[in-house]
Amino acid sequence: MELLIIAVSLMALVILAVLIGTGGKPLLLVTSFTAVRESLWRNKMPLLGSSVTVLLVLMFLYLFYLTPGTRIGPEQPIPFSHRIHAGVKAIQCEFCHPFVERSINPGIPPVEKCLYCHNYIIANHPRIQKIHEYFNSNTPIPWRKVFYLPEHVLFNHQRHIKKEIKCRRCHGPIETMDRIQRKQLKMGFCVECHEKKNANVGCWLACHS
Ligand code: HEC
Ligand code: HEC
Ligand code: HEC
Ligand code: HEC
Repeated sequence: MELLIIAVSLMALVILAVLIGTGGKPLLLVTSFTAVRESLWRNKMPLLGSSVTVLLVLMFLYLFYLTPGTRIGPEQPIPFSHRIHAGVKAIQCEFCHPFVERSINPGIPPVEKCLYCHNYIIANHPRIQKIHEYFNSNTPIPWRKVFYLPEHVLFNHQRHIKKEIKCRRCHGPIETMDRIQRKQLKMGFCVECHEKKNANVGCWLACHS
């Protein structure tokens, strides 16, 4: 894919050069080559400008459309969708992450909880059958973790949720995502809000162990 894009952009640049060099009459390239070369030289600034533009546009398109993997979260063992569950079906976050207010660990729902509904809802769907496989073999579903902090950072949901900070403030609009996307939680992000809300910014005491 990358090679194709490079080839296309090089071709675009060559065509552009020929068009500018010949003032829009590409046949001149055959009949009077030196004139074309001089004309190219005279127009070198606009040529450079448009080449850079073309390259930037292509780079943007590439990053934006052709690398979805960077904007959609990691693939999960079962394609569980927050958009369907928390969005379309409006199941409360706390139903599946019940300890978020009480403990350091919000809790990822165990297989049993999926089956609590899916023994009845679309029970024969192949993806639901896969949940049964985990259940029958007594293995927890190996979900891949999306959000994490460096080990030396202390974080506790409880204090934040008591202050009515919404989940989306830190996690983004989870209820619109099929696959959860990671959002970088850099230290500046924590500190910025702590300063605004007059929370503890003595971070070496408060957040770092
Ligand atoms: C409170 C009930 C409930 C719970 C709990 C629940 N689901 Fe669902 N799930 C639903 C509903 C409702 C649908 C939509 C069914 C439909 O499309 O008709 C659904 C759809 C799905 C689908 C199909 C989505 C698609 O691609 O069409 C999968 C897969 C799924 N759930 C997996 C899970 C897993 C894994 C868990 C446990 C972590 C889980 N569900 C927990 C209610 C639930
Ligand atoms: C039907 C159950 C269910 C509901 C409702 C639900 N979640 Fe989840 N959540 C899961 C499962 C299963 C995972 C693990 C798989 C994954 O990451 O997609 C998860 C993972 C997450 C993670 C990523 C954890 C990590 O670091 O790996 C976040 C953040 C999250 N949920 C937030 C929310 C929020 C916010 C809501 C409400 C808007 C919500 N969830 C509603 C089942 C649910
Ligand atoms: C102030 C920011 C903040 C808010 C608000 C917040 N979270 Fe989190 N959440 C985090 C951070 C940071 C992590 C990663 C923690 C870690 O790695 O120890 C995380 C991790 C998680 C996880 C994964 C836990 C695991 O064991 O993998 C879930 C699930 C989750 N959050 C759900 C929620 C839900 C639901 C809400 C809203 C009720 C919420 N969060 C609100 C910052 C926040
Ligand atoms: C949107 C605002 C907001 C963001 C973002 C936020 N916090 Fe907080 N945090 C607060 C507030 C408000 C309090 C004070 C809660 C209280 O007074 O009980 C707090 C309290 C804390 C405490 C307890 C401090 C103490 O006094 O013992 C820790 C630890 C903490 N936050 C860590 C973090 C980390 C780590 C992050 C980044 C991943 C983060 N917070 C992001 C608003 C935020």
